[in-house]
Amino acid sequence: MRLFIAIDLPEEVKRELWYLALDLQHQAEQARVVPPENYHLTLLFIGETKRVDEVREAMQLLRIPDEPPQVVIEGIGSFKQQGARTWWVGVRDNEQLTGIYNELNALYRAAGFSLEARSFKPHITLARKVRASQPIVLMAPQYVLTAERIALMKSTQEAGRMVYTEIDSVELC
Ligand code: 2AM
Repeated sequence: MRLFIAIDLPEEVKRELWYLALDLQHQAEQARVVPPENYHLTLLFIGETKRVDEVREAMQLLRIPDEPPQVVIEGIGSFKQQGARTWWVGVRDNEQLTGIYNELNALYRAAGFSLEARSFKPHITLARKVRASQPIVLMAPQYVLTAERIALMKSTQEAGRMVYTEIDSVELC
């Protein structure tokens, strides 16, 4: 199973981000926009594993923070990947979120999972393989939300689409 741990977003935030993605698509010549049901904030990418029970157990060892983390979604940007661009919405640096990431990272390493050495840059991907002849201009969004739970997500490909399904969760408050 291909697994990752993420914070889900409220429906109204997903809807607003979807309007942004549609605006982006409108301005681009080509874009693979992420559908709204797939918007999430990844905390830890675990990757392909058969050790699903151990993944669930390790997640339950997370210490619950005194306060559920505040997530400030702000800013928008893109980076080049294989000749096209990937567009994302950013998340303000936040000690609480980084703390949860560090703890999850430590828990899974201690349990023997080999994790990517990427640094933690929280973001929400809006579109991939974006090509445009004119600069794309978008309004940077801003939302503040409280992350009340984190979810263990399974990622599968169905009829060429990415489908993310929650298989477990931990309440943060
Ligand atoms: P991305 O949006 O920047 O691609 C499910 O794939 C989630 O895990 C996505 O949020 C994805 O981030 C993240 N992720 C992190 N590392 C990944 C990797 N090596 N392969 C696929 N997804 C990864």
